[in-house]
Amino acid sequence: MLLDKDDERILAGEQGETKQKVLELLVALGKVFGAERLVPIASAQVSGASYKTIGEYGLQWLNSLDAKAVVPAVLNPIGMPRDRWQEMGVDPDFAVKQQAVVAAYERLGISLECTCTPYYLRETKFGDHLAWSESSAVCYANSVIGARTNREGGPGALAAALVGKTPCYGFHLDANRRPQVVVRVQADTRDWTIADYGALGYHAGKLVGNRIPFFTGIDPGKDQLKGLGAAMAATGAVALYHVEGVTPEARAGPFDLAGLETIAVESDEIKKLFREIPVDAVAVGCPHCSPAELDEIALLLKGKVVTKPFYVFASQGVIEKNQRTVDTIEKSGARVFADTCMVVSPVMEQYEAIMVNSGKALAYVPDMCAAVARIGTIGDCVRVGTE
Ligand code: F3S
Repeated sequence: MLLDKDDERILAGEQGETKQKVLELLVALGKVFGAERLVPIASAQVSGASYKTIGEYGLQWLNSLDAKAVVPAVLNPIGMPRDRWQEMGVDPDFAVKQQAVVAAYERLGISLECTCTPYYLRETKFGDHLAWSESSAVCYANSVIGARTNREGGPGALAAALVGKTPCYGFHLDANRRPQVVVRVQADTRDWTIADYGALGYHAGKLVGNRIPFFTGIDPGKDQLKGLGAAMAATGAVALYHVEGVTPEARAGPFDLAGLETIAVESDEIKKLFREIPVDAVAVGCPHCSPAELDEIALLLKGKVVTKPFYVFASQGVIEKNQRTVDTIEKSGARVFADTCMVVSPVMEQYEAIMVNSGKALAYVPDMCAAVARIGTIGDCVRVGTE
């Protein structure tokens, strides 16, 4: 691998053992995947942030590191809201451990924005190289923004944050960003919501696996794209997709689609995922809510009182910029929590059935929370949460 003088000095240990070790990790990763060089990154997003997922060994490893991030870097959602964990009902023993994980990352210069939607906090531009971890964030960055990131593991993203570079392979290269399968949606999608696109992603992810799909027949907005990609990343391993006439690389195209398999998806295949089963909690914000989603929830909840635990998840930055909207939501008894989510927080394990508006949550809630998941629109979530 081609390394510059700075890299060689780091590898020689001139900037300390931690940077030496993490650059060795990046070089090893690059060699495994055939990277010819490292590429500077604009930002990092580091997973392995919830104590629920990294446990004691992960915490010990973080505490053994001694370096500072050299590019803007944020954390993935953690197991609790940092300042409202008692209100969410988090076990104090878990909170102590989670606070230790957060402190370890803070010491490493990682910003304590714990979110899967870092693109709402800091401008991420077309063509930016990134080292992001969380699968929905990766899918959004690659597909909706046209930035370039592989789906990094937590250690790889942290290493990239500390060095400011990542191995240049996979989605960093033009040649690996072309469609590999066409998904032709045969449905009237004009009134499709985020939940419909989440359900489409849930279904399509199973059909395409880890290939790069090229969608035709749909015209989603950004929040719908967010839901589509998040779900495909969960049920398949999609890290990049294109939508004809919508996503930036598809608009810049044209792609050569000759010879690609075409998969047709009918409306009925999507609608049958919307099962009407009883639930004991509602959770919206997977991925974390955009300002527009908060607006919609507030509009629908205004003047109502929730009758079930009703969780809304968003990043701290989005909450702070939309505090009045958040206040309106919370007047209903619903709670808008930052830093965490319905999948990584152990609190959600107390419920037997959870209503969501997300294809990704539909896929993950059964495994991660041991609960049945029901998908519906934000309107359905409000109706069920207040009846
Ligand atoms: Fe984000 Fe948690 Fe969903 S990390 S994408 S809200 S599972």
